[in-house]
Amino acid sequence: MPNTILVGAQWGDEGKGKIIDYLTDEAEIVVRSQGGNNAGHTIVIDGEKYVLHLIPSGILRKSKTCVIGNGVVLDPVSLVQEIEGLRARGVKVGKNLLISDAAHLVFPYHRALDEQREALKGGGKIGTTKRGIGPAYADKASRTGIRAGDLLSPETFAEKLAARVKENNAVLKSLDAKPVSGKQILSDYLEAAKVLGPFITNTVVFLHHAVQQGVPILFEGAQGTFLDIDHGTYPFVTSSNTTAGGACTGSGVPPHRIDTVMGVVKAYTTRVGEGPFPTEDAGLTSTLHGMGREFGATTGRPRRCGWFDAVATRYSAMVNGIDEIAITNLDGLDGVDWIKVCVGYRIGGKTIDYPPADHADIARCKPVYIDMPGWRKPTDHATKFSELPPKARDYAKKIAALTGAKLAIVSIGPARSQTIRL
Ligand code: GDP
Ligand code: IMO
Ligand code: MG
Repeated sequence: MPNTILVGAQWGDEGKGKIIDYLTDEAEIVVRSQGGNNAGHTIVIDGEKYVLHLIPSGILRKSKTCVIGNGVVLDPVSLVQEIEGLRARGVKVGKNLLISDAAHLVFPYHRALDEQREALKGGGKIGTTKRGIGPAYADKASRTGIRAGDLLSPETFAEKLAARVKENNAVLKSLDAKPVSGKQILSDYLEAAKVLGPFITNTVVFLHHAVQQGVPILFEGAQGTFLDIDHGTYPFVTSSNTTAGGACTGSGVPPHRIDTVMGVVKAYTTRVGEGPFPTEDAGLTSTLHGMGREFGATTGRPRRCGWFDAVATRYSAMVNGIDEIAITNLDGLDGVDWIKVCVGYRIGGKTIDYPPADHADIARCKPVYIDMPGWRKPTDHATKFSELPPKARDYAKKIAALTGAKLAIVSIGPARSQTIRL
């Protein structure tokens, strides 16, 4: 298997975790290169459900190595809990996990700022996961962040932390929010450092050797293209580059060492949090929620649902250089009579085929739909593409063609076995 970047081609929750777990069979190393524990990647193995937030989804496969790269922002206390949770379920987490010493840390003051800024925005809020992701990346960009490598030198860590707590408490006070306790953070983080210390290393050097030896690497995107800080529906986005380029900057693996970019799309579209969503559809939302589907893996919030948006996925293919796509949740449309697919946006009397940059303009776009007949049959037992109902095959081929990518995988259920490779 070549070095592959897997990206979400919509607004996150496309089923990246499931596809990564499936593809890890052929890879040796799985790398997370951006985002933090705002991500929630669900994997179902033998009926057991695992939700991973910071640890790459490859951890559930034996003898694979997982890397948390320099571009990730990590909350050490939450990471320790995730490690312990996996160990309690018999999953090995030891030498198979490496954490970049250059990954920035998320602190309680980041979470407090995230929460308070959202509260102050009222109706204009972003609808963040409140995990402190935005403020942590802001510290990184302001060159005031504290990194995983700092956890290895308790005295320096304590000094840096004291300065950050002082400044952030002043900011929290100015926003009428409660201050954080520097003493408590120091003790919690040094405790977490005892567990995480052995994993922290220079992951760039590790990945460089792997690349030189031709070891196949899988880059696990978090969030999705339209949550990208540059290419998404700004400001209703996350604070990292969720697109393919982020995999290189966030891991230190150079772009010319990447062989393939695979985009993951749902057979329809979902979004959690605020922001424009042209194909959002109340009827489809209630159908999917009625089936017990589309509740957030990290926050449990109900996801907003809508029809497949080929304007968005085509743009995503452009920005990421998507060669192949994996379509997930095709089974979610099993009971739908007529399926809509958005092929253009109407705005200001014109039809356009790309999303405008301004979120207010995207919100004004009216989708231009084509209708495709539903297949009205269960798909979740198919083991080959040829076993899918002809109309389901036509639908999958159509959305791949509209996106402009080769159809590589069709997923028809949450389990590993419910995956069809073309
Ligand atoms: P991620 O963040 O991209 O990894 O996606 P999430 O795990 O947040 O959300 C995807 C949801 O869809 C999870 O509940 C998965 O178990 C589920 N899932 C993934 N692929 C399929 C599929 O083909 N069919 C069904 N029914 N569920 C799927
Ligand atoms: P995975 O990796 C879906 C959304 C939040 C909010 C916006 C900003 O599971 O696909 P943040 O906490 O990052 O500052 O929130 O981004 N968001 C996600 N939506 N899936 C995710 O991750 C998300 N991570 C963040 O809901 O709208
Ligand atoms: Mg998710």
